[in-house]
Amino acid sequence: MGRLDGKVAIVTGAASGMGLATVKKFVAEGARVVLGDVQGEGARIARELGDAARFVLTDVSREADVEALVAYAVQEFGQLDAALRGCASTPGRSGGGSWWAGCPGVPPEPDRRGDPTRRPS
Ligand SMILES: NC(=O)c1ccc[n+]([C@@H]2O[C@H](COP(=O)([O-])OP(=O)(O)OC[C@H]3O[C@@H](n4cnc5c(N)ncnc54)[C@H](O)[C@@H]3O)[C@@H](O)[C@H]2O)c1
Repeated sequence: MGRLDGKVAIVTGAASGMGLATVKKFVAEGARVVLGDVQGEGARIARELGDAARFVLTDVSREADVEALVAYAVQEFGQLDAALRGCASTPGRSGGGSWWAGCPGVPPEPDRRGDPTRRPS
């Protein structure tokens, strides 16, 4: 019996590093997880993890993307118990714009989602 049996989580920055490690641990502990990332690679990872995982292409700097990620988790799994921000956007901290906490190498362009296979440099 896992420590997260019956729980549902979303994880951003889920295709790599801390986010991916968290996804694997959550699934191993029995949670169902929706992965969010700008990298389409997250779809392959979710497929490999099986029924407990889903992927939503998500740019955390876009509020609508984050809302869609949350809505998808509730729609697919019926609830949402936890969120891990492996890559998180914090608005309004830099002269009224946005800056990115936990998104290593993310360039400051307003739209980073054009090529979901591109890795941050
Ligand atoms: N790796 C570590 O050991 C470690 C330890 C402590 C803290 N941290 C911190 O954790 C954070 C993540 O580090 P990491 O090593 O996992 O980095 P990483 O580069 O391996 O992973 C970041 C993920 O975020 C995704 N991402 C980038 N921009 C995004 C966006 N706009 N929307 C959604 N996803 C986006 C990337 O595609 C990538 O999959 C950093 O702030 C880092 O400083 C890392």
